[in-house]
Amino acid sequence: MRNVILDCDPGHDDALAILLAAGHLNVLGITTVAGNQTIDNVTSNALKILTVAGLTHIPVARGMAGPLVPTSRQKPDVHGPDFHGETGLDGPDLPEPTISPDRRHAVDFIIETIRSHDEVTLVPTGPLTNIALALRREPSIVGGIREISLMGGGLTHGNVSAAAEFNILMDPEAAHIVFTCGAPVKMCGINLTRQVMATPVEADRMRAIGNRTGQVVAELLDFFLGTCEKLFGLPGGPLHDPCAVVPLIDTTLIEFEPMRVDIELYGEHTYGMTLCDHRHLLLGDGEIKRIGKRMGDPPYTEVGLRIDRERFFDLLTNTLAAYP
Ligand code: BDR
Ligand code: CA
Repeated sequence: MRNVILDCDPGHDDALAILLAAGHLNVLGITTVAGNQTIDNVTSNALKILTVAGLTHIPVARGMAGPLVPTSRQKPDVHGPDFHGETGLDGPDLPEPTISPDRRHAVDFIIETIRSHDEVTLVPTGPLTNIALALRREPSIVGGIREISLMGGGLTHGNVSAAAEFNILMDPEAAHIVFTCGAPVKMCGINLTRQVMATPVEADRMRAIGNRTGQVVAELLDFFLGTCEKLFGLPGGPLHDPCAVVPLIDTTLIEFEPMRVDIELYGEHTYGMTLCDHRHLLLGDGEIKRIGKRMGDPPYTEVGLRIDRERFFDLLTNTLAAYP
């Protein structure tokens, strides 16, 4: 079983990423970062989800309350609370947590955990502030990182702006540090995660599992689907964050393509964009073809292109069924 640290900002889909990971991987800890909600709320939400699912042995370390370089373009009030509600996990009536946060700061937790294990995979599903700071503070940890499998960015477009996706836009400088750190990076961007939209059919499927965790997830989805419809007119709720966990469990569900990815740090309209050099791909009508040789210099990021929707929801349902 792979050793992983989940770095997240729960968040409805972050909660699902936690449950998926803990069902299959050796989760050494969860570190929290402000994003979908304040650092207080997302930390409390991580503790609540672990309490619901009987995963209280997993430590939770509270991390950064904001980006490396705050700018007016991050507009957290526009995205986070609108999508995830005032608590960050609106919908179900969640129990008060029976555990408290670890005494260490998330950045220290990440450094110490990587140092004390042979290999650790990092799974960031929020802004990349904690990971970037850990890499800057202790650059030698890069040798202990097996891989970074993250949710963020997009092959061609964003969600908060036409160019930028939320997790990257919330801390583009941190994203630049992470994408260029030298560890292998897998990017599950919104071009991929919008292929796994949950609809009321999937919410009912989770409810039908008949356990406490399935019921909570169904109620999370009920809320999240509503906001995605209201704000974006989407026909469902994209389950972004569990996608970053999927390739660590089953390598056949997502098809990745290596390419040069740069984080745009200066553009007036493109700040926070993941500029993916896909000149060798032809993106047509639901089909992606390789038509030329890869351009752009290394390092290359593995960019997720396609995910098997049906098998994704099977994996999620079977995983949730094993919880109380
Ligand atoms: C990302 O932003 C957050 O709202 C979600 O939790 C996900 O990590 C999608 O853009
Ligand atoms: Ca998230």
